[in-house]
Amino acid sequence: MNQLSSPVAAPQGSGFGATLRTDQWWLGPLATGSLLLAFLIYSTIAAFIGGNYWVPGTNYLSPFYSPELWGTSPHAIFGIAPSWWPTGILPFSAALLILGGPAGFRLTCYYYRKAYYRSLWFDPVACAVGEPRKSYWGENSLPLILWNLHRYFLYLAIIFVFVLLYDGILAHFFPVNADGSAFANYHFLANGQPNPAFNAGGPLEPHHHVFGMSLVSLTLLINPLLIAGYTFGCHSLRHLVGGKKDCFSCGNPVRFKAWSFVSFLNRNHAVWAMASLVMVGFADIYVRLVAMGIWPQVRFF
Ligand code: FES
Repeated sequence: MNQLSSPVAAPQGSGFGATLRTDQWWLGPLATGSLLLAFLIYSTIAAFIGGNYWVPGTNYLSPFYSPELWGTSPHAIFGIAPSWWPTGILPFSAALLILGGPAGFRLTCYYYRKAYYRSLWFDPVACAVGEPRKSYWGENSLPLILWNLHRYFLYLAIIFVFVLLYDGILAHFFPVNADGSAFANYHFLANGQPNPAFNAGGPLEPHHHVFGMSLVSLTLLINPLLIAGYTFGCHSLRHLVGGKKDCFSCGNPVRFKAWSFVSFLNRNHAVWAMASLVMVGFADIYVRLVAMGIWPQVRFF
């Protein structure tokens, strides 16, 4: 065995957690792991609930349920639950149809991979700290080779940015009757049950919309802006707009500007990733609690 291929013993010894570090190296992985786990548990529960994701009398729609392809809210594009849905096996929830896109995008993101490899898989949990496994698997076999699909999830994620931006703008327009009172004549209640008061004499559509602002509408607008900061700072996008180029000044200046912008966002990709994760979770919680009558929407005007 020559010198280069000789195994080098780590000074801290082997075994999970073995280290000579005396700083609080575990704080970062603990905080990151707790946040990721909390989001994972909450978002899974929220996706399966299937109700209270929109608020009657407003245009608020939870980002977990947007775009709503089928569902009981007035935002549903194709109507109520599709006939092919196996309701007997799994109760219908509009979120289950679309959440794979953003979930896949975050799961395969280069930053999140580092975050959960460290904080949830402990592989490695931190620099110069012993790992639970001795072998190195890499990402060149199943299932981790699928993480190379990240670029394709990016295409989907860009569509989601514009859909959520549209929702955020729409949330500032409130449906009202001719006399200015809030429109309430919906087929279904926010919880997904049929509205017993539906069509009790009132108009079937809002007469018009009035511009307004609330804490919820602002939340639904800030949310896609943070998601845009995260999405447009993606490493794959940076490669897409600026990769395989040795000389920017020799080529298209627009491309150089695009690459500079993506690089600018990319510098703080981790911050955008976590801020947008917290905000999208908060946006769903806020819409949900307002729909359930637990929190006020705090309407400014
Ligand atoms: Fe993080 Fe693409 S690398 S979103």
